[in-house]
Amino acid sequence: MAPKVIDLMSHSSLHTERLGERLGALARTGDVFALWGELGAGKTVLVRGLARGMRLHGPVSSPTFVLVNEYDGATPLYHVDFYRLDPTQLGNVGWEEYLDASGVVAIEWPDRAGPSLPDARLDVRIEHVAESKRAIRLEAHGSRAEYLLGAIAGAYRA
Ligand SMILES: Nc1ncnc2c1ncn2[C@@H]1O[C@H](COP(=O)(O)OP(=O)(O)OP(=O)(O)O)[C@@H](O)[C@H]1O
Ligand SMILES: [Mg+2]
Repeated sequence: MAPKVIDLMSHSSLHTERLGERLGALARTGDVFALWGELGAGKTVLVRGLARGMRLHGPVSSPTFVLVNEYDGATPLYHVDFYRLDPTQLGNVGWEEYLDASGVVAIEWPDRAGPSLPDARLDVRIEHVAESKRAIRLEAHGSRAEYLLGAIAGAYRA
């Protein structure tokens, strides 16, 4: 049976990026990745990997002045970052339309996404352990996310 949780240790940003790349290679329209973790945890690094795995080009950086960065390709990636969002403005931003926009959605600071955060999603929880060390927990919510975990589990089995 596909695992619902995978715990792994990342020893470098490259390692985290490669995890994203593996997930990106499997991602398809409708997939939602929620990236939890404090400032500098490595959420954007993981999104960079997702984009690469999806064969999307262009520099991936935190959306600084906009809420959403779009990376276009056969299947687009919508990179949502709620960090700078004033929570009282959440009702006005309409980010939910990206969930129906035939792409993959990756969300930084998903705790600020409000009630529209989909139940069916893959949570990536990144915790700072040391300068270049991160504890990463992948947590599947729903059968599609469980499938994704199952598909990459072999690469991370101890
Ligand atoms: N194992 C690791 N995994 C990911 N990033 C790492 C790792 N080790 C060191 N880093 C560094 O930590 C930083 C992570 O930055 P990143 O922008 O991805 O964080 P973030 O979680 O997106 O933060 P923010 O909430 O500010 O957007 C980068 O400078 C990266 O090089
Ligand atoms: Mg970021």
